[in-house]
Amino acid sequence: MKYAIVTGGARGLGLGIVRALLDEAVVDEVAVIDLKLVAPPADLAGRVHGFAGDVTSEAAIHAAVEAIAAQLGPHPTVLCNNAGGGEANWFESGTRQEWDGVEIWRRYVDLNLNSVYLVSKEVVPRMRAGGAICNTSSIAGLLATPILAAYAAAKAGVISYTRTLALQLGPQDIRVNAVAPGLIYTKIWEELGAALGGGKDRARMAFEAAVRAMVPLGREQTPDDIGRTVAWLCSDKAINVTGQVIAIDGGIMLGKLPLARGE
Ligand SMILES: NC(=O)c1ccc[n+]([C@@H]2O[C@H](COP(=O)([O-])OP(=O)(O)OC[C@H]3O[C@@H](n4cnc5c(N)ncnc54)[C@H](O)[C@@H]3O)[C@@H](O)[C@H]2O)c1
Repeated sequence: MKYAIVTGGARGLGLGIVRALLDEAVVDEVAVIDLKLVAPPADLAGRVHGFAGDVTSEAAIHAAVEAIAAQLGPHPTVLCNNAGGGEANWFESGTRQEWDGVEIWRRYVDLNLNSVYLVSKEVVPRMRAGGAICNTSSIAGLLATPILAAYAAAKAGVISYTRTLALQLGPQDIRVNAVAPGLIYTKIWEELGAALGGGKDRARMAFEAAVRAMVPLGREQTPDDIGRTVAWLCSDKAINVTGQVIAIDGGIMLGKLPLARGE
């Protein structure tokens, strides 16, 4: 029986990853590590197992991974380090374009970067040849933005660490890649959109304005888009792909210049 560990797999992009790993038969079962567990959707019940854990806590991750190994077996095949983001008050701080408090900076780095190291350190020694890891970075880790400084720095760190880990684990035939999602309307965007657009009721409008301004394909991305790419990267179809970052962003990373032909 092959299984994956997906952090932050209870909702949002993580749930998209869980669903795609199962739909594409990359693994048979999934262990979700999440701070706030919820029952999986009915069609996934029985194949998804929840384990409470905070990815910023070494002790909590050790306990969760031990419990997973006891229930699902000693050797996970896939690890998706997906948990990340921020809290509403951290986003508000960033959008003021002042210096963030160092505590907020530390918490962004803890949640988005240190967690990837902590969970990998616990899981990798249990993986065998043929295993695959996929880390969730962000377009914020590739493009500069005057807001989200700490989040962007942490997500850039995830890309660097992905490449290092790919080199370190190559000789063991364990592949390590990352995805850089673009704009997906999840809880993160409810909170960032509220901070940008002046309140919760306007969060969706702020998000749609960002999609119009940034995305060459003109549409938002979805958890399903991210899940299918992660599933491919973790499958044997990508057997010679390692150390890569794939942006799933409708073309944002093309970095268009603001020049347009007049009509
Ligand atoms: N939504 C986007 O537009 C977007 C874009 C680029 C990157 N991302 C990244 O995608 C990942 C998932 O984001 P999302 O949009 O699905 O967010 P989300 O808030 O909907 O889901 C995050 C999940 O992670 C869990 N989580 C949060 N902190 C945790 C912790 N300390 N320990 C364990 N679990 C924890 C939450 O409970 C939740 O289930 C994040 O790493 C985020 O930075 C999101």
